Amino acid sequence: MSSTAPTPLPGSERSCWSLPEDWTFLNPGSFGLRLREVQTARTELLTRWEAQPVDFIERESLALYQSSLERTASFLRADVDGFGFVSNATEAIDAVLASHPPRGGSILLGDQVYGAVAAASKWVTRTGGAAGVQTVRVPLPAMSAADIVAAWKDALDAGGVGLAIVDHITSGTALVQPVAEITAACRERGVPVLIDGAHAPGMLDLDINAIGADWYAGNLHKWVGAPAGAGFLWTAPQHRDTTRPLALSHEANEGYAQAFLWQGTRDYTPWLVAPTAIEAIERRWGWTRLQAWQHEMAFWAGGEVSSALGTCVADGTGGALTAAMISVKLPGEYQRRYSDRFVFRDLLARDHRVEVAIDDSVGDWWLRMSFGPWARAEDVARLLEVLAATA
Ligand SMILES: Cc1ncc(COP(=O)(O)O)c(C=O)c1O
Repeated sequence: MSSTAPTPLPGSERSCWSLPEDWTFLNPGSFGLRLREVQTARTELLTRWEAQPVDFIERESLALYQSSLERTASFLRADVDGFGFVSNATEAIDAVLASHPPRGGSILLGDQVYGAVAAASKWVTRTGGAAGVQTVRVPLPAMSAADIVAAWKDALDAGGVGLAIVDHITSGTALVQPVAEITAACRERGVPVLIDGAHAPGMLDLDINAIGADWYAGNLHKWVGAPAGAGFLWTAPQHRDTTRPLALSHEANEGYAQAFLWQGTRDYTPWLVAPTAIEAIERRWGWTRLQAWQHEMAFWAGGEVSSALGTCVADGTGGALTAAMISVKLPGEYQRRYSDRFVFRDLLARDHRVEVAIDDSVGDWWLRMSFGPWARAEDVARLLEVLAATA
C-alpha cells in the first residue's frame, strides 16, 4: 500500500455491529448495517407490538411516530410538513410517478440510474403516464461538477421533458451529483424535479429544503443505519395536496401528513427507530466526523485500488464528487472472463468472503466499495489480493 489510510475511529470495532469477523464487508451501500443498539431498540418495539398489537399500533406508536417524524426531518433539514415516511426509496419514487405522471412529457433519467427507477419509468410510459424516457449521458469518469450540470442542461434543452429524476448519488458509480444546480436548471425550464436520494441521507450533510426540488425521495436504512424499511418522501408545498403514498388508506383525503401517517397494516417500527439510529452515530462519533472519515477512507481506497488495477475512479475530480463510496473501473479481463456481473460478485462473496458491488449501467464494469466505520486498510488489501487471484 503506497499511501496511508485514515486512522480508525475510536469505538468502531466490528463487535459494535453483528458483522462476522470472516467477512470483508465493503458494501453497506446496498442495505446498510445496523449498530447493535439500533437492533435492540427495534426488537423491543416488535416485542411490544406482539404483546398487545392494538395498544401498540393505535396508541403507543402514534406518539413515537410524531417525534420520529420531527427528529428525522430536522436531521435532514426538511420542512416537516412535507415529510412522510414510506418503506424505501423505491416506494417514494413510485408514489411520485403515480401521483404526478408527466403524461405528455418524457421522464428524464441519468444513464447511470438505478435499474428499478429505469424499470418504473418504462412501466409508466407503457401504461400511458409518460411520453417516453430520455437519458442524460453523465460523464464517466466525471472531471468536474460543471460537466455534469452541462450534461443535464443539454438534455433538458432537447425538449419534451415532463419530469426529471436525478440521483443525488449515482448507485453503481457513486458520483455525488450537484443536485442544487441541476434542480435550478430544471426549474428555469419549468421541469419538475424529483431527487432520488436513496444513498444521500447520512452519507452527506443534507439540507433538503435548500436544494429546492419538487420532491426528495430517500432511505434511512442505508447510511443513517436505521432498520430496513425506513424510507421517506419529502414534497415541496405546491405538490402536497396532490402527492400521496402508494397505499391510499383511510386518511387519503385528509392532507399530506395524515395520508402518510397510516398506510395500512405494516411494520412501522423502522420509522420509529430512526431517531435511535441518528442519536447513536451522534453519540459515538458525531455525524460530521463520521462523514469526513468515510470520505477520506473512500478517497484513499479508490486511489489504492485504481492504481493497483491500472485503471481509474469514476470521480475524476480528486474527491469533490465522492462521499462514502467510490467506484473503480475494472479491467476488461474480468468482464470477458465472467460475463455476468452477478456471477463475479457472488464468486467474490462465496469463495472469498468479500462483499462489494459491481455495476454495468453503462456497459463497462465498475467495482463499488462503500465504507462504514468498521472498515480498515486490511479490508482493501484483502480485496486487492482477491482481485489478483480472480483476474
Ligand atoms: C439510486 C438508488 N435509487 C433507489 C434505490 C432503491 O432503494 P430501496 O431498495 O431502498 O428502495 C437504490 C438502492 O440501492 C439506489 O441506489
